[in-house]
Amino acid sequence: MPAGIARRDGVLHVDDVPLPAIAAGAGTATYVYSASVIRERVARLTAALDGVPHRVHYSLKANANGAILRVLREAGCGVDVVSGGELHRALHAGFTGRDIVFGGVGKTQRELKEALDAGVKLINVESDSELRLLAALAAARGVVAPVGLRINPEVDVENAHHYIATGEKGHKFGIGLPDALRVGREALAMPSIRLVAVDMHVGSQLHSFEAYREGMSRLVELARTLRADGAPIEYLDAGGGLPVPYGDEEEPDVAAYGAIVRQATAALGGVELLVEHGRYLVAASGSLLTRVLYRKESGHKTYVICDAGMTELIRPSHYDAYHQIDAVGDVPGRMTADVVGPVCETGDFLGLDREIPAVGPGDLLVVHTVGAYGVAMASRYNARPLAAEVLVDGSRWAVVTAREQYADLLRHEVASPQWQEA
Ligand code: LLP
Repeated sequence: MPAGIARRDGVLHVDDVPLPAIAAGAGTATYVYSASVIRERVARLTAALDGVPHRVHYSLKANANGAILRVLREAGCGVDVVSGGELHRALHAGFTGRDIVFGGVGKTQRELKEALDAGVKLINVESDSELRLLAALAAARGVVAPVGLRINPEVDVENAHHYIATGEKGHKFGIGLPDALRVGREALAMPSIRLVAVDMHVGSQLHSFEAYREGMSRLVELARTLRADGAPIEYLDAGGGLPVPYGDEEEPDVAAYGAIVRQATAALGGVELLVEHGRYLVAASGSLLTRVLYRKESGHKTYVICDAGMTELIRPSHYDAYHQIDAVGDVPGRMTADVVGPVCETGDFLGLDREIPAVGPGDLLVVHTVGAYGVAMASRYNARPLAAEVLVDGSRWAVVTAREQYADLLRHEVASPQWQEA
């Protein structure tokens, strides 16, 4: 059972809150997060980085829920954002410019301006054309932009799915290693740019840390050369990517990871280490609570049809991702079933061929380890309003995102379109 979840008196609890109480009060489908699990993850990661100057910048894309952001802010984290919307959410949650790293492969002019206006700590640029646009925007505003070069370190990446590898040769992310020095020197010649960092992100859900070792050594080498050319390098940004166990895998050895990135930081010297983890900090804190609508047999298979599916959690169908599924109550008997959602797609499933308790209509199920890239990737397909979100803190719980209503689905629809002649 993931941290923070336990069966007591026959029912699953998140911390000290029984899940049926949340289902009764907030309905289903509902995302439930544990604040204590998030705090514990931050503490573990921070301990692994202790020994060199560092800051954990939580990668907002994993989950931008404001209540979670506040827990992370109070635990001392900064953030890593990749869009104007994420920047807006971060500022709304109380982060200030100095807490924010702005990344992303396709920042718009508007987003770059917003980053400059917010006074962010660092803008990681991913191409020479982006660098030139940023230099012009900063010059026009009379400011100097703090810039990092996101490098594609061109390392081999071993991870769960090729969609989430990013640092191999030919990927769209970052500046290719052979071009890095040229772009860096171009930056050095720009009066409105201050080249303060080198950055990488090699991939997500990385079970082998070799890619970190190789990537960091390439970053350090580049930083040394740029420094020799006069760059005031202040930060070494190692990106995110730590894995979490979704089934019976081991927890990652964060101490071993910490040793790799600390060593590179110490070798370069005079820099603050930045890390941008998302999944590691929040995945284990989240559970998706769903109610079984129907159970049926079809073509020798048993189907459990739930009120949550790919609209709430797309990871199973999009990445073939495995998430553990449990019954919330003490349900007698076991069976093998496909646990599916109500959406009109064969790819709409939470788990296939699962051995689970013999649940039936009305029973509650929980899908584990969905705090990262769960609600963040939710959709309204089939005109399904987005799920509610609940934060648990010890023995207390609260709805932190209200369930969408049908009226929300129509909120941006223009009732009387203003036709214009072309
Ligand atoms: N920094 C950068 C530049 C990134 O692109 C990412 C994730 C992170 C940090 C955070 O990575 P993490 O620590 O969470 O692995 N939707 C996929 C994951 C996509 C990750 C994209 N980039 C999934 O559900 O597995």
